[in-house]
Amino acid sequence: MKEYFDFSSAGFITTKFENYFGEKNSPWGQKKPALYQHTDLVDWIGLPVFIKDFELKKTENTKLYFSALGCVEIYINGKRTDFGEMKPGWSDYNKRALYWEEDISDFVVPGKNRILAVVSPGWYCGRIAGGWYGENPPSVIIAVRNGKKVAAETDTSWVCNVCGQIRTADIWDGEYRDNRETDYTVMSETGYDVSKWKKAKVFNYKGEVTPFIGSKVKRRDRLSLKPENIKVSNGTEFNGTHFGKLTISNPDASLPLKVQRGEKVTVDFGQETVGRLHIRFRAAEGVAVKMRYAEFLNDSGDIDRGNDGPDGSVYTINLRSALGKAYCVAGKEKTTDYAPTFTFFGYRYVEISSEDSFEIVSLKAEVVGNDNIEIGKIETSDELVNKLISNALWGQRGNYLSVPTDCPQRDERLGWTGDAQAFSITAGYNADVYGFFRKWMQDMRDSQGKRGGYADVNPRVGVCNSENACAWGDAGVIIPYNMYMLYGDKTILKEHYDSMEKYIKGLIADFGMSGPVPRYGDWLAYDWCDNRFVSSAYFVHDCDLMIKISEALGKKDRAEYYTSLRAKAQKYFSDKFLKNGKPKEKTQCNKILALAFNLVEDKYKQKLADELEKQIRDNGNLLSCGFLGTYNLCPTLSLYGKDKMAYNLLLQRKEPSWLYSVDQGSTTIWERWNSYTKEKGFGDVGMNSFNHYAYGSVVEWMYRYMAGIEPAAPGFRELKLQPRIDLRTADELPEGQKNIKWVKASYNSASGLIKSEWNTEKGLVYKCTVPKGVKCTLTLPAVSDTITVNGVKQDISGETVDFELKGGNYTFIQK
Ligand code: BGC
Repeated sequence: MKEYFDFSSAGFITTKFENYFGEKNSPWGQKKPALYQHTDLVDWIGLPVFIKDFELKKTENTKLYFSALGCVEIYINGKRTDFGEMKPGWSDYNKRALYWEEDISDFVVPGKNRILAVVSPGWYCGRIAGGWYGENPPSVIIAVRNGKKVAAETDTSWVCNVCGQIRTADIWDGEYRDNRETDYTVMSETGYDVSKWKKAKVFNYKGEVTPFIGSKVKRRDRLSLKPENIKVSNGTEFNGTHFGKLTISNPDASLPLKVQRGEKVTVDFGQETVGRLHIRFRAAEGVAVKMRYAEFLNDSGDIDRGNDGPDGSVYTINLRSALGKAYCVAGKEKTTDYAPTFTFFGYRYVEISSEDSFEIVSLKAEVVGNDNIEIGKIETSDELVNKLISNALWGQRGNYLSVPTDCPQRDERLGWTGDAQAFSITAGYNADVYGFFRKWMQDMRDSQGKRGGYADVNPRVGVCNSENACAWGDAGVIIPYNMYMLYGDKTILKEHYDSMEKYIKGLIADFGMSGPVPRYGDWLAYDWCDNRFVSSAYFVHDCDLMIKISEALGKKDRAEYYTSLRAKAQKYFSDKFLKNGKPKEKTQCNKILALAFNLVEDKYKQKLADELEKQIRDNGNLLSCGFLGTYNLCPTLSLYGKDKMAYNLLLQRKEPSWLYSVDQGSTTIWERWNSYTKEKGFGDVGMNSFNHYAYGSVVEWMYRYMAGIEPAAPGFRELKLQPRIDLRTADELPEGQKNIKWVKASYNSASGLIKSEWNTEKGLVYKCTVPKGVKCTLTLPAVSDTITVNGVKQDISGETVDFELKGGNYTFIQK
């Protein structure tokens, strides 16, 4: 157990300057940053900078504790510390700020030392916060300790200024840096004169300052990307459309690259990612290089196809009010190295230009996100499916940034609960996200309403201050349970239990048995089912999970309570939404949820599953559901033995389907099934993100059914291997589809490494690795009369063959 540092003797400090977000010098001419209107990023007055000199006798065991209301970078004795990005991360600042503890023994010296902190508005008072956490300027709290002795802590003996190279920084809008200003490294040298700086002001923070939990946001160097293509254009030409097209003067430029005034350089990284461009350029002092980030390029210049500029130019209208830009003004140095510090972008393309000539030396896409260790891998014989798997993984890498965001680019980037719960199992297979979600559940508790309602976005912010939405708020029950099942650790359940109870209690008090507010429903479905059906279904599901969670925690009486509550919730559901034992309404989602959440009597289940299958087949093997139906779709089909239909859907290429967007050129999962189509161009611009992971939830099915790695007990202490092989016969294959011939999956579970691989090129070969000490059952389809198990032949009869396996490696061959 880590020592809990008590910050109570220290205070947050802030600047005394009225003009930080005050009227005087505000570039937006308004007091509240949340309300500013703009058309471009501006060169403002810098960010709040705080400095303190302190003495140390010895350097060993010097620890730094820091938190900020905003995002902070720390410099010590002329060096920038490199502890992570966007520190300390987002929390519900009305309740809590998170502190980090870092060893700085290597940064300090015996004798005089200087520490500098520069703080940006970040999630605290940047535009994203919408004024929700008050109208205070960014603040910081710091303590330096040597052994047990406090060497420095924030108080009025710190000096402050609003200055420095980063002139403006905002999560949505971007960053403006001017290297002609003094570098923070220089300011943080003990010799730099700060005698004219003002004393810091103590800020009376009402929240708690608690240790950071979970994984941290880092620059993930192993994922950095190089440009795939660089184009230079020098104007526009008429092509018969509204905006025309860029005149490309060099379609495939290489670096270093001299750029003239009037030229635009468009860099394609070949992959939508999240983070920032790291550029090195040569330019005369005072030359401003401008970077515009975008997810897509305009495809024609045609306004009817949703284009917002000439063919080949960056498409940015879908960022809505977010500017997504960066400026860097060259200082005296011959070569400028620039990567934004206090912002991030969701992008694949960057347009680089200037009013003056300059030379680009190098370009790199630095990936920024929670450093969740990737523990799962799936590969198949189908390249398009592999691309889909990669798209989902990149969606996760980009959108798990301090909180699970809906999207990383437009004026949103919020912790939307519905999206997060839909994708949470996929995420938990791809990477170890236990700590990440433990932290986010803390955010949910902090933002929980007085009557128990979970906010639709967490941490709660002004731009979306609603709560209790069905399938969204329910994330507060669903995610802890999913994390427990995947990782086997009960801490998240224990920490969150009272909060979940409060949520359910609030729902009953406010809505009786009808469930949470029917606000979003099967979001973005082609065939929308009644939101009230969804509410009621999720309420029964909540009760089911509360029974299991209560049992896991040994709370027998509560489990009994939720069992009786479930019966009441089920009765409400059945009375209202079922007829002859089955859903009255006829959408796919009605059937999917009824089956997935166990809402129909056993005797009707198989029949309902058959009807679901038929309905999809009659629809041309096309799904028609949105966020909710989709994540439950394939697992439900497989649960009822409809693996063949699950494969039909997986390999479908018509709209709407997963591979449809792959065919349209996706490199991440899109918000809509038709966010972009080659046929019609860009989808509804009011809400059109090209990095929205919810539909990537099909990867859950791939791990659990296609590869068949399923926990039979929490944390895979017991394992169920249930690979569902693509056994569709030639006459069963929908037109244009081919079978998946092989699948290889591995998962470094909480109980050890699991592997599951199958190949149907010659008979059926299945290989698996079961971790030591894990009890495992395996079910394989019988495709022959005999099977050899690690070389030993045995006869089989029936449609499937079952094995009980201990830890080890196995090969099963059916010829
Ligand atoms: C977000 C979604 C979210 C939704 C609520 C959108 O603006 O981007 O992903 O779940 O609002 O319906």
